[in-house]
Amino acid sequence: MWAMLCLVHQSKSIAHKRTPAGMRRRAGIMDDPPAPVPAMPHALDLLMQRHSAPSRQLGEPAPQGAELHALLAAAVRVPDHGKLVPFRLIELRGEAKLAFGEQLAAIAARNPALSESKREKERTRYAFAPLVLVVVARVTAGSKVPPIEQEIAAGCVAYNLLLGAHALGYGAQWLTGWAAYDQDVAAILRLAGNERVIGFVHIGTPQIDVPDRERPAVDEVFSTWTP
Ligand SMILES: Cc1cc2nc3c(=O)[nH]c(=O)nc-3n(C[C@H](O)[C@H](O)[C@H](O)COP(=O)(O)O)c2cc1C
Repeated sequence: MWAMLCLVHQSKSIAHKRTPAGMRRRAGIMDDPPAPVPAMPHALDLLMQRHSAPSRQLGEPAPQGAELHALLAAAVRVPDHGKLVPFRLIELRGEAKLAFGEQLAAIAARNPALSESKREKERTRYAFAPLVLVVVARVTAGSKVPPIEQEIAAGCVAYNLLLGAHALGYGAQWLTGWAAYDQDVAAILRLAGNERVIGFVHIGTPQIDVPDRERPAVDEVFSTWTP
């Protein structure tokens, strides 16, 4: 997988070094044959193929070490109005991940209306995916950049994690649930007052073939404005 990522990086830098067609035309060298495009997954193919894998269908392995670092480095390359870096990530893995899950289940269990099946779901939520990345938005108050734009930038990080995990051959799912909005959970994560959970991104290797779901047709969501 690491080799695949290097290949993608390499192909990208080759593509960037190619002289743009306009410049070649102006320089009168248009009869040069275009440089061959190296075999690589087209970015649109990655977008077209990506779909979530339910967190309960994820198992070992998950990215770690240099591969995780590469995933994170790619994920934080988001549009960021004002360059405020309005996000950070927290890794949950191994025993700490299980302990986090137990603490969340204990909070959920305080609700007497919670059914036994829901309690069981809460107890096991963090037992599946080997890696959970908590994407945290940290909003700079008083900035000319509205809070929603800062939170959207953090959301882009979460989506980049899904795409990057897919590009590396892993499965992933972005979850929020009640825990993303709970003050006790925020305290367990030691979030500051200006921070909130944007998502818990569960990452691992799908243990089954997960089918895609139906997607919106372009015609349903696209129109051309006319004056
Ligand atoms: C902000 C956000 C929060 C989500 N939270 C949950 C959640 O708590 N539980 C859930 O089942 N799906 C949740 N989803 C949906 C899944 O991440 C995922 O989109 C869904 O399983 C469909 O998969 P797809 O990515 O292939 O469309 C959330 C999605 C987003 C964008």
